[in-house]
Amino acid sequence: MGVEVAVRGLTKSFGGHPVWSDLTLTLPAGEISVLLGPSGTGKSVFLKTLVGLLRPDRGSVVIEGRDLPKLSERELYEVRKLFGVLFQDGALFGSMTIYDNVAFPLREHTRRSESEIRAVVTEKLEMVGLVGAEHKLPGEISGGMRKRAGLARALVLDPQIILFDEPDSGLDPVRTAYLNQLIVDLNQRTGATFLIVTHDINTARTVPDNIGLIYHGHLAMFGPREMLLSSTEPVVRQFLNAQRIGPIGMAEEKDAEELAAEAQAGVELPPLPPIPLQLPPSDGRPRRAERPPGQWCRENGVTPPPGSFEGRWAPEPSEVVR
Ligand SMILES: Nc1ncnc2c1ncn2[C@@H]1O[C@H](COP(=O)(O)OP(=O)(O)O)[C@@H](O)[C@H]1O
Ligand SMILES: [Mg+2]
Repeated sequence: MGVEVAVRGLTKSFGGHPVWSDLTLTLPAGEISVLLGPSGTGKSVFLKTLVGLLRPDRGSVVIEGRDLPKLSERELYEVRKLFGVLFQDGALFGSMTIYDNVAFPLREHTRRSESEIRAVVTEKLEMVGLVGAEHKLPGEISGGMRKRAGLARALVLDPQIILFDEPDSGLDPVRTAYLNQLIVDLNQRTGATFLIVTHDINTARTVPDNIGLIYHGHLAMFGPREMLLSSTEPVVRQFLNAQRIGPIGMAEEKDAEELAAEAQAGVELPPLPPIPLQLPPSDGRPRRAERPPGQWCRENGVTPPPGSFEGRWAPEPSEVVR
């Protein structure tokens, strides 16, 4: 379960205005990746390009040997069954019950009987903790429940790749914590390849195996969580630590003058905070793609910020890079 998604040189513009260019990254099979970036940098456009809802100007998205931008609409229709997508607002049909919303892809894409459909829908509603809400309309349940209903619908075709577009937007911190746990547990259970677009720094720091950051029309960095959380690259550091000091300004990137003023004022960056442990599945059994805390740092000779992976891993003196 779970397939690799290899993106190479992907470029997309609307009406001659580039959204992003030359995105190159690989979502490793079965792993959880998070995509960050300021609003309007084209994260949603990226997800839609991955599933083939938008065509890129150039570049490739290779899944199981097939290059999606080169496929016909009919071939794409087949490949899309590999994907489950949780759109930003849940994208539920307002006049359909939760049950019918979740059953929709099965009725649309399969020839299963209503009793088979009932079994699948019930299983997925159980997975997301929504049993009992089947007969409600989307407008009658909370935003958090709508997200979970959207997630149940994204799961019914047993996708190999699941894309989440800001699953935590509009949720309070407690609901976000529950949702994050649900995401980790679903990854353990399904083994699918996950990509989550989020603005929540805590989610980015604790949930994924990999983190990517789109900034100013380019991929600033993509790699293992520990690589980005120990990076001192200015944009990565500023974004992952939600700081005002750095190249990202209120509206767009700061100009040279502003940056020079910052440098002259001698503003000192606070030290990198410790890398937290990754959120484990709730039953304590590891996910297939899980790596031991600190492994990436050890293998790459990187000393993580002091206090990282508290209690479970500390670098041997010989591993400390001076
Ligand atoms: N279908 C479209 N046609 C034209 N422009 C679009 C379309 N979809 C998105 N855009 C533009 O692409 C840019 C990136 O949008 P989006 O992917 O929604 O950003 P993000 O999800 O990172 O906030 C925005 O400037 C947006 O206006
Ligand atoms: Mg978006």
